[in-house]
Amino acid sequence: MRRPLVVGNWKMNLLRRDAVALARAVAEWARRHSQPELVLCPPFVYLEAVAEVLRDAPVGLGAQNVYPQAGGAYTGEISPAMLADVGCRYVIVGHSERRQLLGEQDEFIGRKVVAALEAGLQPILCVGELLKQRERGETQEVVRGQLVQALQGVSEAAASRLVLAYEPVWAIGTGRVATAAQAQEVQADLRSTLRMRYNATAAEQVRILYGGSVKAENAAELLAQPDVDGALVGGASLRADEFLRIAACAVA
Ligand code: PGA
Repeated sequence: MRRPLVVGNWKMNLLRRDAVALARAVAEWARRHSQPELVLCPPFVYLEAVAEVLRDAPVGLGAQNVYPQAGGAYTGEISPAMLADVGCRYVIVGHSERRQLLGEQDEFIGRKVVAALEAGLQPILCVGELLKQRERGETQEVVRGQLVQALQGVSEAAASRLVLAYEPVWAIGTGRVATAAQAQEVQADLRSTLRMRYNATAAEQVRILYGGSVKAENAAELLAQPDVDGALVGGASLRADEFLRIAACAVA
């Protein structure tokens, strides 16, 4: 019932020519495959170039970040309406690199989620524990806390438009992937948290992605889990062949 979703988070990589070529290869593949839903998240400066390539292709466009204000004196920031205006349907919010490198906190992330929803975007809200938190047995408490705090301002009506991504911090860019059982355990717990916070219907509709060192060789097992509805792919999304091999594993 939930359509699988595979998102490429290009992070701060690629220059225009390679970004356009990668988007072209993904668009070409997507024209021939109805599953999964694919979304590309290029750096802000290449959103329009990639949007142009994706214009007639069944591939969504997402941004990697957003500022939670409609407009004003926020030098260097980008509003939700600007993202929608250049063709974005999705935006990644609360990525662990922004939490760790830029000090983003749950309250601020929550404002981004609300601002994105108000502008008609679908936030891809990332949560995940640090290695030391997992070792101390705090995983469940940490990710539930991140989820509940970020969703404080999100109404029941808007909840089904959310996408969640469970990204254990120790698995991001490290080559150390969570086991399928670890991903399933946390993601099932996130879904039951949604059920308690909202209702069963919303909880069943929200897609929960796994992210953190997803590669073609480990994607099939992760994506076969009942609460893993897709993948948020970083490093492996920078090569079309690798990204599309992952995509091919994500069928309903
Ligand atoms: P990775 O990144 O696939 O390179 O581990 C995932 C992410 O940070 O979204």
